Amino acid sequence: MPSLIDFVRGLPKAELHLHLEGSLEPEQMFAMSERNRIKLPYSSVDEIRNAYNFNNLQEFLDIYYAGMSVLQQEEDFYDLTMAYLKRCKADNVRHVEVFFDPQGHTERGIPFSVVINGINRALEDGKKHLNISYKLIMSFLRHLSEADAFETLKQATPYLELIHGVGLDSSELGHPPSKFVNVFKAAGDMGLLRVAHAGEEGPPSYVEEALDLLDIDRLDHGNRALESDSLVTRLANNQIALTVCPLSNLKLCVVNDMSDHPIQTMLEKGLLATVNSDDPSYFGGYINDNYVALIESVDLTREQAIQLAKNSFSGSFLSPQEKSKYLDEIDAYITQNTH
Ligand code: ADE
Ligand code: ZN
Repeated sequence: MPSLIDFVRGLPKAELHLHLEGSLEPEQMFAMSERNRIKLPYSSVDEIRNAYNFNNLQEFLDIYYAGMSVLQQEEDFYDLTMAYLKRCKADNVRHVEVFFDPQGHTERGIPFSVVINGINRALEDGKKHLNISYKLIMSFLRHLSEADAFETLKQATPYLELIHGVGLDSSELGHPPSKFVNVFKAAGDMGLLRVAHAGEEGPPSYVEEALDLLDIDRLDHGNRALESDSLVTRLANNQIALTVCPLSNLKLCVVNDMSDHPIQTMLEKGLLATVNSDDPSYFGGYINDNYVALIESVDLTREQAIQLAKNSFSGSFLSPQEKSKYLDEIDAYITQNTH
């Protein structure tokens, strides 16, 4: 039998919480800054990496938005997405549901078409050549106004075939889900699925608002939902998937130490928790690194790792048939690796 870590590396899995702009590696950022003649406040790749020390979400976001300034041409968005998909292939990720932040680009004067065409072309190539299926989720930046989110939804309208859902990210505290009720209703009316970051830094009431007012189909992070027993019961009873991001939680001080990570509590309480990398270039690892961190720090068991991998497909936006196909792949993998 392979070691638990090797077993988990090979497990088929889906990633449901990944910001494409957060997969921009320092090497790629540096190369793009030179190729596009964009000045960065860093003079080397090492300096970029050394700047990645955060005490909270906002400190990370300030660096994240500055970093994405190097993304200028359609080719940059293609290269960014393709580099991520190659990492997925190495980690046996079979399906991805990825976020992009259009307002982080359009507010710098980059046309929406440049962003979406580059990303979509890479996702299609990844499906064809790497055999990784995908959904694309357009996130609204919650520190901006709802009117700005409506403008973004309008810009997305010609590309609705390429976009499967909308999300809500950026600075959580002070920007509750209730600020975006109307735009989420409009997105739902257009047939888009809905997800929202909530309960990362924000209180349980933000998770309740996301469920009650935004009618979300999935919850991003959700850690602080654990503070409310009634909310946990509701999430468990309705099998609302939580896209949990362990290394992100550690780097953004949502947990003080990885050994305090609540992933096992979430599973024990019957929550449909999944493991994801969020912004892997900034937080020190891709999806397998997140599983390995849990194995090493909270003694995640083989059964729990299998449950988390199965949850990643059950909690995805794939059709029931597609979900069964991937769940069968997991079962076949377990059979092959049990002796
Ligand atoms: N944007 C990118 N990563 C994020 C996170 N973890 N929380 C909120 N907004 C984000
Ligand atoms: Zn996130």
